[in-house]
Amino acid sequence: MGTPAAVASTTHVATVAVAPASAEHPQHPVLAAIRDRRSIGRVRPERPDRATIARLLEAATWAPNHRLTQPWRFVVLAGEARNALGETIGRAQAARHPEGSEDAAVAYAKAAGKPLRAPVVIAVAVEPTVAPKVVEIEEVTAGAAAIQNLLLAAHAEGLAAIWRTGDPCYDPAVKAHLGLPEGAFVLGFVYLGYPDGAPPTRERIPAPALTRWLGWDDDGAQPGE
Ligand SMILES: Cc1cc2nc3c(=O)[nH]c(=O)nc-3n(C[C@H](O)[C@H](O)[C@H](O)COP(=O)(O)O)c2cc1C
Repeated sequence: MGTPAAVASTTHVATVAVAPASAEHPQHPVLAAIRDRRSIGRVRPERPDRATIARLLEAATWAPNHRLTQPWRFVVLAGEARNALGETIGRAQAARHPEGSEDAAVAYAKAAGKPLRAPVVIAVAVEPTVAPKVVEIEEVTAGAAAIQNLLLAAHAEGLAAIWRTGDPCYDPAVKAHLGLPEGAFVLGFVYLGYPDGAPPTRERIPAPALTRWLGWDDDGAQPGE
């Protein structure tokens, strides 16, 4: 285990900020990537090329999924397509306020610009298979696993990525805009680009504080501890 760099007590269980893991897990790059990946929202305007994005999507499709339903769907937006999505999101947010009001105008402007925060935005959705033995929540969790693969692949490619959600994910007009059927779930928007600045530091509750070990006849102490 690494040495905690700082201990925070903002939750019921202490969270610990730990130094990047590459040095701790030199034996396997997957472990290092899992620890070192960060959600990064601040990106430069240059668009990563299509072949790179295609590799991320390929990685996403290797996520585990029950009964091989492969429920994930991707809509990859760049350039003007981000503006078009922004208009739909803007209209959906404006519709929460009285028509023609100042609040509606502000909500539109705020929401419409969101997809422009990165040069590439991937909407990730799940189209659950409707069949007797397929459990809907498992389709959604498989989709989440696909997004994590995508985020790790982006990290491996030197890209900044962040999974964003919010009201637009749950708006029927946004779903229709993306060409998804009514039964689909939009799990989020992955914003991608080249990082602008250093990655943020994040904290986690150490796993032992969240884990019960049952049926183990040792206390987990390593020799010499
Ligand atoms: C389902 C889901 C939705 C998220 N939505 C947002 C979001 O809307 N905006 C945002 O800034 N980050 C969002 N995030 C990213 C989290 O803020 C981020 O993962 C968390 O702060 C931990 O940071 P890390 O990913 O760098 O470890 C979301 C993450 C998940 C899993």
